[in-house]
Amino acid sequence: MILAIETSCDDTCAAVIDGPRVLSNVISSQAAAHAHFGGVVPEVASRHHVELVNPVVDAALAEAGLGLDDVEAIAVTVRPGLIGALLVGVSTAKALAAATGKPLIAVDHLLGHVAASWLEPEPLEPPFLALVASGGHTLLAGVRERTGFELLGSTLDDAAGEALDKAARMLGLGYPGGPEIQRAAAGGDPAAFAFPVAMSRDPGLDFSFSGLKTALVYAVRAIEQEAGPEGSEAAVAARRADLAASFQAAVVDQLIAKVGRALDAAEKAGERWPALALGGGVAANSLLRERAGELCERRGIRLKLLPIELCTDNAAMIGAAATGLEPLAYPGYLDLDAAAASRRVPA
Ligand code: KG4
Ligand code: ZN
Repeated sequence: MILAIETSCDDTCAAVIDGPRVLSNVISSQAAAHAHFGGVVPEVASRHHVELVNPVVDAALAEAGLGLDDVEAIAVTVRPGLIGALLVGVSTAKALAAATGKPLIAVDHLLGHVAASWLEPEPLEPPFLALVASGGHTLLAGVRERTGFELLGSTLDDAAGEALDKAARMLGLGYPGGPEIQRAAAGGDPAAFAFPVAMSRDPGLDFSFSGLKTALVYAVRAIEQEAGPEGSEAAVAARRADLAASFQAAVVDQLIAKVGRALDAAEKAGERWPALALGGGVAANSLLRERAGELCERRGIRLKLLPIELCTDNAAMIGAAATGLEPLAYPGYLDLDAAAASRRVPA
């Protein structure tokens, strides 16, 4: 039984897991506090975590029907993320562990997104290929064991979710942008605008979304100029569904193209990934899920889709990642630091 805490960005999360079973998974979203700014404000996030972390931990234990004494270890996200936000979780975890004499397990947030796949329902064990696409990260991971993953490719600029968030802002939609774009895209034509599927000719497994964002800026500007100063806002609103649908399709096309290439690369090297797992907030996207389903069917491999609450940031995935890692005993973990940047997770 592990109590896990996650505060790397703007969600204050705590969960209790028992092997692959999620006994509780409490997420207190701060989205409303940041919506007004169109993105996460680090200092606002830290202050909210300070207020929320203890009630969220209490709620996770209560929902699991357990007390602190019942858990074997405390797991916490130590990197990467907003440093002030991470520190709230790390300090809380250290205090709880030290006060109860439990070991502490330090978890990388990205391994957490990968590890969400080995939770119920229908747990997936390594080996598998994982696509993690969130507001802060976009990467392809080769997962061969529970202790870490091989980084096969990552974004050279914006993350996929970040691109969707920025696009939503450009189109006058709310935050977070991914679900807003998906909603707006439902009534639009994905072929209305020919946005570049970046990196499609690049043989590597890295991603890039900044060119796509620039293409959207130009498309919006062209519509505004054609309409003139009086009607520009209405003209963009009239094309919003088509712009959203075309942008979403270009993001998803790039993600799927790179997954396909990673499957090819493994086969060329005499290896075969028997399954694909999607993780991170963007894995909640229904077009991505659909296209990944088609790809896996064509390739004859298993597709592991997570329930939405395990895609976006949560602490159950941090608990899952902790099951493959070495617990740290008191007092060794007291000088453990949070870190803003990711460290390469050893494969
Ligand atoms: O994993 P996550 O909760 O936090 C980070 O670690 O970043 O991911 C949040 C990101 C945001 O950029 C949000 O716009 C995106 O996931 N997202 C979606 C959807 N739901 C959330 N993107 C596309 N479609 C969705 N349905
Ligand atoms: Zn995340």
